[in-house]
Amino acid sequence: MLQIGNLKIANPLIMAPMAGYTNLPFRLMVKKLGAGLVTTEMISAMGLALGQKKTLQYLKSHPSERPLSVQIFGSRPEVMARAAQLAVEAGADLVDINMGCPVKKVVRTGAGASLLRDLQGVEQVVKAVRLACSVPLTVKIRAGWSPDAPVACEVARIAEDSGADAVTVHPRFASQGFSGLADWGWISRVKERVKIPVIGNGDIFEPHAALEMRKRTGCDGVMIGRGALKNPWIFRQILGLEKGVPFAEPDLSERRSFIMEHFQFLSETAGEHKAALGMRSLMLFYTKGLRNCARFRESITKIRDAQSLIAIVDHYLSSLEMETF
Ligand SMILES: Cc1cc2nc3c(=O)[nH]c(=O)nc-3n(C[C@H](O)[C@H](O)[C@H](O)COP(=O)(O)O)c2cc1C
Repeated sequence: MLQIGNLKIANPLIMAPMAGYTNLPFRLMVKKLGAGLVTTEMISAMGLALGQKKTLQYLKSHPSERPLSVQIFGSRPEVMARAAQLAVEAGADLVDINMGCPVKKVVRTGAGASLLRDLQGVEQVVKAVRLACSVPLTVKIRAGWSPDAPVACEVARIAEDSGADAVTVHPRFASQGFSGLADWGWISRVKERVKIPVIGNGDIFEPHAALEMRKRTGCDGVMIGRGALKNPWIFRQILGLEKGVPFAEPDLSERRSFIMEHFQFLSETAGEHKAALGMRSLMLFYTKGLRNCARFRESITKIRDAQSLIAIVDHYLSSLEMETF
C-alpha cells in the first residue's frame, strides 16, 4: 500500500504521465493489469483555466480507473490554482504538478522543467495550488535543469514545505532529455531529505528493476513510463514477483484480448477511424519481440481503417497460434 496525504493507494506502482499515450483507454487497460495509480498526460493549466474545449476533454475519466492523478503544467500560480480546482471538480483524486517536461514549447513559458531554474516560482506555484486544491498534491521533478545545478533535493524540500504530499523524481537533467541512464542516486538523496513519500521513476524496463529500485533507493513508490508502454503487463508481473511468484509473459490469447479491448475502448472515446490510427504505434509496442513480426509491423503502419487493423492483427496472431500447436 502507498499513502499520499489521506489517499490510500492499493499498491505502490504508478503509471507515469505520458503525453499522447496515457489517455482514458490506456489508463483503463493498465489499471486492469494492476497499476495502483494512473495519471493523465500533462494538461495545460492555461487551457483549462480558459475553458478550452479540447483541453477540458483531457479531464474525462471513468470510475473504474480511480484513484486518478491529474497532471497540470503551467507557471502562473493563480492559473495553476484554478486548473487544480477544475481537475478536482472533474474527479481528480490527486493533482500532480509537472516540473520535468523539457519540451521547448513548455519551458519557454516558464513551465515544466523550467521551474527547476526558478526556485521561488516552485514555492509560489506549489503554495497556490495547495491552497486551492482539496485533494493530495504531488510534484514531479527531474534532477535539475542541467548537471551544473542539481537542485532535486532543494526543490523537493521546497515542495514539501509548501504543502506537497509526495514528490516523484525522474533522475535525469532536463538538458539530457531521455538520453543517458537515470541516476537513481538522486532518488536516494531526495528520500533522505524529505519526510513525504518519494516516488522513484526512470528506466524500469523489466519487472525485477522495480524491486531493485525500491531496495537501492528506499523509495515509497515506483513510477513506470516507457516500460509499461512496451509491456503493460509489467504491473502484474511486479506484483507477482513481490509475492515470490516467477513472472510469466502473457500468452497469445491474452495478448489478442488485450489488443482488441484496448481498440474497443479507444473506439468508444475517439471513434473507430482515429482509434485504428492510434493503435498503429501501440501495435509496434505490443508485438515487439514476437516471432515473424517484421512483415506484420510493416503492414500495420500502413493501415487506415478499423477493419484492416482487425484483419491484420487477427491474421498475424492466428499464424503464431498455429505455429504453437
Ligand atoms: C512519449 C512520452 C511522453 C511523456 N509525457 C509526459 C508528461 O505528459 N508528463 C510528465 O511529467 N512526463 C512525461 N514523460 C516522462 C515520463 O513520465 C517519465 O518521467 C520518463 O519517461 C522516465 O520514465 P521511464 O524511464 O519509466 O519511461 C513522457 C515521456 C515520454 C517518453
